[in-house]
Amino acid sequence: MTTYSIAVIPGDGIGNEVVPEAQRVLEAASRIGGFSFDWTHYDWSCERFAKTGAMMPADGLQQIRHKDAIFLGAVGFPGVPDHVSLWGLLIPIRRSFHQYVNLRPVKLLAGVESPLKGREAGSIDFYVVRENNEGEYSSIGGRLYEGLEDELVMQQSIFTRRGCDRVMRYAFELAKGRKQHVTSATKSNGISHTMPYWDERFAAISKEYPGFTTDQFHIDILTAHFVRNPDWFDVVVASNLFGDILSDLGPAVVGSIGIAPGGNINPEKDYPSMFEPVHGSAPDIAGKGVANPIGQIWSGAMMLRHLGEEATAAAIEKAIEDVLARRDSLTRDLGGTAGTRELTDAIIGALPSVA
Ligand code: NAI
Ligand code: MG
Repeated sequence: MTTYSIAVIPGDGIGNEVVPEAQRVLEAASRIGGFSFDWTHYDWSCERFAKTGAMMPADGLQQIRHKDAIFLGAVGFPGVPDHVSLWGLLIPIRRSFHQYVNLRPVKLLAGVESPLKGREAGSIDFYVVRENNEGEYSSIGGRLYEGLEDELVMQQSIFTRRGCDRVMRYAFELAKGRKQHVTSATKSNGISHTMPYWDERFAAISKEYPGFTTDQFHIDILTAHFVRNPDWFDVVVASNLFGDILSDLGPAVVGSIGIAPGGNINPEKDYPSMFEPVHGSAPDIAGKGVANPIGQIWSGAMMLRHLGEEATAAAIEKAIEDVLARRDSLTRDLGGTAGTRELTDAIIGALPSVA
């Protein structure tokens, strides 16, 4: 029997509530695929930072380097600046482990009310593929003449051929099993070096995929199309900054932040990939047992798909869809009265039984 060795980092706030619940679902579902889990728990968090001055130990990355995947809740808590939790944990993991794809599905499910009028379940179904390692989020830059009238700040964007090509190829490969349509987010009118280069690489990679349709939009009008014409898209590929924006906007147009999943993926599997919901640690509802566990559970399904357990991943997603459509065990953010545990129990109950 295959055993997957998983690093579990619940993090802060509701991460500590939704991660154990999602583990229960994954354990229950593992019998479908006939595999098992070996979970190792890490307390890396803002709470740890407050006690020890570091989000994770100095050898943290080595500790999880050989795991099959990383299952993360959320980090961030009032009192610890957000750049500390980001640059002290998430970014080192994403970059050191070459998780150069941030993947988020945008799918309107039955039972979830979209803020968009008149949209039916199934009518919105696409992926945002965000470049996750370079682009606008680089640490190259600096400040001159600090505090003076002439004060000057610079931050460099980094676009490499390798970085552009690999994330674009990932988008095309993903579209292969879908509608074979890839959209590129650009801004080559205003950003005159890096974005024309991005467009040039997109045109070059498109040529490797004859038979696929492509289009590209400037990021400003693209955000409008996400709201007005979300049915146009199949796979959308974007740089780090544009992808960050689109990958929050996409899930927002299909419903609650509590259900949206995500993955930080090293497609070559040279390093572990990390799966985490879109939402944060939600300090406003933490500790109350009311957080929606679906974003975390769905992220677990994405983790299984990455590990090659497609049937089990699909079964979990179907159980999520069934429970949402029934609407009888939903948490408050979806208009129900159930707690985190009850919603999780309903999803476990909706998994297919194995003879
Ligand atoms: P948030 O996603 O934690 O919360 C935004 C709103 O959505 C809150 O009202 C919250 O109650 C609600 N919400 C979020 N998840 C929910 C769930 N599962 N069920 C029901 N309601 C849910 O974003 P916010 O408030 O901006 O950030 C809080 C902290 O989380 C910050 O420290 C931030 O840096 C961190 N954060 C961490 C992320 C990560 O670890 N990848 C991502 C986003 C934020
Ligand atoms: Mg974001």
